Amino acid sequence: MVVKLHDLYFKPFINADEIDVVVQRMVNEISADIGDEIPVFVGIMNGSFMFVSDFVKKYPKPCEVTFIKLASYEGVKSTEDIQRLIGLTQDLTGRTVVILEDIIDSGNTLEEVHRIFKNENVKQLLIATLFYKPEAYDKDFKLHYVGKEIPNKFIVGYGLDYDGLGRDLPNVYQLKTTQHMTNIVLFGPPGAGKGTQANFLKEKYDLVHISTGDVFRYNIKNETALGMLAKSYMDKGELVPDQVTIDMLNKEVEKNAGANGFIFDGFPRTNAQAKALDELMDSKDSQINAMVALEVDDEVLVERLLKRGETSGRADDADESIIRNRIKEYYDKTAILKDYYSAQDKYYGVDGVGSIEDITERLSAVIDKL
Ligand code: IMP
Ligand code: MG
Repeated sequence: MVVKLHDLYFKPFINADEIDVVVQRMVNEISADIGDEIPVFVGIMNGSFMFVSDFVKKYPKPCEVTFIKLASYEGVKSTEDIQRLIGLTQDLTGRTVVILEDIIDSGNTLEEVHRIFKNENVKQLLIATLFYKPEAYDKDFKLHYVGKEIPNKFIVGYGLDYDGLGRDLPNVYQLKTTQHMTNIVLFGPPGAGKGTQANFLKEKYDLVHISTGDVFRYNIKNETALGMLAKSYMDKGELVPDQVTIDMLNKEVEKNAGANGFIFDGFPRTNAQAKALDELMDSKDSQINAMVALEVDDEVLVERLLKRGETSGRADDADESIIRNRIKEYYDKTAILKDYYSAQDKYYGVDGVGSIEDITERLSAVIDKL
């Protein structure tokens, strides 16, 4: 699950079980190297408290533990200016000292650690860090033990914080590159007023409305590579493969990379498509937040569509049996999707009977909570 700390969103990155394996491996390596000597483990506060705690619990031989407290981070950025808040409080002359760091990023903190130990006459100073960001490190100090190399992205949990929050989390989370988006899949039977409501939601929440039908028409009309590909299937009377549609949607999503979110309309239609859409959003560090379905009683729909037929002249709005068949088809097709999104706790049925304003208010109540 995504966690929100202050204003930022973080996604699961390394779970507690994996951390445990890494810590155990570090314990094995370090205890094998140190042998029977009693080392002094020096944790760098605050971030390393959880790592140090787990580490020394696993350490198979006698050892000493102490902490020094340094501070360098502001928000999600490392700063050059390291403050020494609590220094060494014991004589370490002749001792084997192992620094236990939660994470080494720029190496500024490590530089300060070396400064602190320069005049301490320790027997040896070994550096052990649970996490290491090689792309960010710009110092030459040797890192004797590295738990896990990670990309240069901000993480929280297992002792690490973002402005004070997140240290208590047993798992590690990574800052989402795409922050919170509201992505909804909008459904509604013919005559439910989906188009009207989509327009309203788009305005109110500054979302991009992606109607699959429009996207297809656009690509074919403009003879894009994907449009031509889609057309080649349609010309043969074959269904356009999901991947082609997903690729088109991907282009739309990328075109609107800065959007607050998307309203997907006309897609997905099948389980496989819903999965593909989940994967697409996942690849963008985002997700579908909800399937919102306007629910309108069949009789009301039939009445609305017949009325519309009187003025619109649309043939498929004039015949009651055709209308009923379209409604039935809608429910047959969307039942699977209702199950798919319900299983993820993402299905929201919204009463679609009432004035336009009433319905938009009901929809807003759902979206405001996402
Ligand atoms: P450095 O001085 O840039 O190497 O950063 C080391 C210190 O910055 C660590 O001890 C952490 O307290 C903090 N830090 C570095 N990267 C992260 C991160 O991704 N999340 C949280 N804290 C971090
Ligand atoms: Mg630290």
